[in-house]
Amino acid sequence: MKVAIIGATGAVGVEFMQVLERRKFPITELTLWASKRSAGTTLPFKGKDLTVRELTKDSFKGMDLALFSAGSKISKDFREACVAAKCLMVDNSSAFRMEEGVPLVVPEINPTEAAKALVKNGGKGVIANPNCTTIIALMALAPLHRVVPIKRLVAATYQAASGAGHAAMVELEEGTRAYLEGKPFPPKVLPHPYAFNLFPHNSPFDPATGYCEEEVKLLKESRKILSDQQIRVTGTCVRVPVLRTHAEALNVEFSDSGMSVERAYEILKKAVGVTVLEDRAKNRWAMPVDVAGHDNVYVGRIRKDQSQDNTFDVWVVGDQLLKGAALNAVQCAEVALLGKLAPNANP
Ligand SMILES: NC(=O)c1ccc[n+]([C@@H]2O[C@H](COP(=O)([O-])OP(=O)(O)OC[C@H]3O[C@@H](n4cnc5c(N)ncnc54)[C@H](OP(=O)(O)O)[C@@H]3O)[C@@H](O)[C@H]2O)c1
Repeated sequence: MKVAIIGATGAVGVEFMQVLERRKFPITELTLWASKRSAGTTLPFKGKDLTVRELTKDSFKGMDLALFSAGSKISKDFREACVAAKCLMVDNSSAFRMEEGVPLVVPEINPTEAAKALVKNGGKGVIANPNCTTIIALMALAPLHRVVPIKRLVAATYQAASGAGHAAMVELEEGTRAYLEGKPFPPKVLPHPYAFNLFPHNSPFDPATGYCEEEVKLLKESRKILSDQQIRVTGTCVRVPVLRTHAEALNVEFSDSGMSVERAYEILKKAVGVTVLEDRAKNRWAMPVDVAGHDNVYVGRIRKDQSQDNTFDVWVVGDQLLKGAALNAVQCAEVALLGKLAPNANP
């Protein structure tokens, strides 16, 4: 396969190269694209330095697959050129996620949707990669939902700086250093001071409902991925001063009494791409420092909600640069173009 990475210098972009290498994706040529700013810089792939070039409408000629992570505007501006070049677009932005006919895919959950994107199958040539918070939640919830349908989800999220891109990671590091040195540090990338602080997710708020976009994505995208328009979802998304890997506290109400704590553990221990990590005696549960750099989504602390019937609490942690972005996108390409999902190399 000839593969192009669009946004190769970004927080997600650099992960693509490592994921492609780790999963032994069959590549005959890899090309790297970003803005004019980073044209000429080099990035390592399989022991060689590849040069980043400025993205143009000709970047897709002869390519089989383009992995996009350069924001919604770039995805919209370059979609036509990509599809016209018969190059499959797997897009990390939110630009096309809710578009009719564009599959929104988490390969462990709805793998057969991916190939529907192919033009030869009557598709639009685009696969949308879901929102990172949604992927991580559904990796834990979809295996349970298949056994006993989920009626309602209440989520509280603890989201890492890298979810806002490379510049936000730098801001957290520099802001923390400045704080410890007692120096002023006016934030530039995020709207509030980040060091030793946290704040509700800074995506645009809907004045009518009071929800931010990240919270709305969790509702809409969960319904599309699970093909279930009945499921009710609410939540509060929060940015916490962690460099990478999101954590989520999920309160899940099932439609009947068929779920139990024991059954949930049994199901999740067998679920592909999921690891149960906990040591109750030591009060030890998955944390971002355990999960950063790992492909699987980690779960634990499953317990019966004592305040309501058929309801359970679950703690979920996932590296959003991997399963929430680069890894999931490469997996989408695997199922669409190769017809199989490679095993996780670094579970
Ligand atoms: N971070 C996450 O956890 C995450 C998770 C899921 C989805 N996403 C989505 O992935 C996308 C990228 O996120 P990120 O976190 O990787 O952001 P980032 O670290 O800010 O990287 C942005 C990338 O886009 C490139 N770019 C910007 N303007 C461009 C232009 N005019 N032409 C070509 N390339 C351009 C940048 O290249 P330069 O070096 O030239 O500026 C850089 O490579 C966003 O749509 C985001 O919503 C991110």
